[in-house]
Amino acid sequence: MKIAIHHERLNSEIEALAAFSDADPPAVTRVVFTSTDLRARAWVKARCEDAGLTIRQDAIGNTFARWVGSNPTAPVVGTGSHIDAIPNAGKYDGVTGVLGGLEAIRALQGAGVHPRHSIELLIFTSEEPTRFGIGCLGSRLLAGTLSAGAAKKLTDNDGTSIDEVRRKAGFSGELEQVMLPSGYFKAFVELHIEQGALLEREQKHLGLVERIAAPASLRVLIEGAGGHAGGVLMSDRRDALCAAAEIVLAIEHAARSSGAVDTVATVGICDVFPGAVNSIPAKVRLGVDIRDTDLLRRDRVMRVLDEVCHAVSAKRQVSIHSELLNADAPTDCAPAIVATLAQACEKHGFTFLPVTSRAYHDSLFISQIAPVAMLFIPCRNGYSHRPDEYASPEDITRGALVLAETLATLAA
Ligand code: GLV
Ligand code: MN
Ligand code: MN
Repeated sequence: MKIAIHHERLNSEIEALAAFSDADPPAVTRVVFTSTDLRARAWVKARCEDAGLTIRQDAIGNTFARWVGSNPTAPVVGTGSHIDAIPNAGKYDGVTGVLGGLEAIRALQGAGVHPRHSIELLIFTSEEPTRFGIGCLGSRLLAGTLSAGAAKKLTDNDGTSIDEVRRKAGFSGELEQVMLPSGYFKAFVELHIEQGALLEREQKHLGLVERIAAPASLRVLIEGAGGHAGGVLMSDRRDALCAAAEIVLAIEHAARSSGAVDTVATVGICDVFPGAVNSIPAKVRLGVDIRDTDLLRRDRVMRVLDEVCHAVSAKRQVSIHSELLNADAPTDCAPAIVATLAQACEKHGFTFLPVTSRAYHDSLFISQIAPVAMLFIPCRNGYSHRPDEYASPEDITRGALVLAETLATLAA
């Protein structure tokens, strides 16, 4: 069996998908359920149909493109990722796993493989938290780690309910039906860019993920008192942004002093109200992201955040309310699938490194219902979530080839 990745097709499809964007190139912005996202989905589904795959979509818009195996009732071997992109992103995050997965399937078809287990490409809905504040919405619902009831309470940044948004996008089934039955997957393997610089630094072709870090995110609302930037004396102020600044620096300090490189904390959102240069900030909304491979360390930083909110509130006479959006557990990849990936690398003479994923991925949630593994492709300078994100066609091709070999072994 000689598996050949059609690298020109794969790379030209990555370029073509990047054109579905609400940002000027090379930046990509593709927020879930916008018309741009829906057009991009339609384009990917058409490519899947061209490959003879059978498409199914669930009530949250997770898309399943199945290559039916000779035993259609046997558990499915899954692969895939996401195509939504945060504002001002690059073209590879998620997309490499979706189009690389599709190319792997086409390569197996071209090699005359007849899998016993069906192989299914998944395009997960809203891996990015941009619109609903919580990442991996589709995979959380598939795994049941987010209940349909809890999902229905979510609103987007404009306050529109998730039910209204998804129905308008054409997904009108019941969210209760999204969760997959246990035993649905035999295995799930996600191809993704590394989003770090380790593979490049170590000059390895590919990374085999052994562990995925645990993310937590919170929204912190600070309410002080607004007023005239000239008229209100400094001693009389209750400036919400100055309170926020203390909180931001305290979170940074807590992560830096954890003693482990795996502890990371970011305040990526700071909305200031009313947002006028000559008006004292009355309200601030912070978006906080804290992660670690170790749950105790991660939770320690969360406790610091709690303590600092109390202290700053008392000191500055502002009200502070923090809302936990998610606090997930880390997961281990399945050693047997990691070994299969390693064998595929060795077969083709590709070097590899065992790595930890510090980014989260849909695989983190699918691991609740299936054995999972992830394969990382190097990305230049480790850049990701920015327009100059780049993975070379050669590296992407190696990733797709190892994925194809692995899917073939798992589905045999
Ligand atoms: C996913 O995009 C993440 O933030 O890790
Ligand atoms: Mn991302
Ligand atoms: Mn991603």
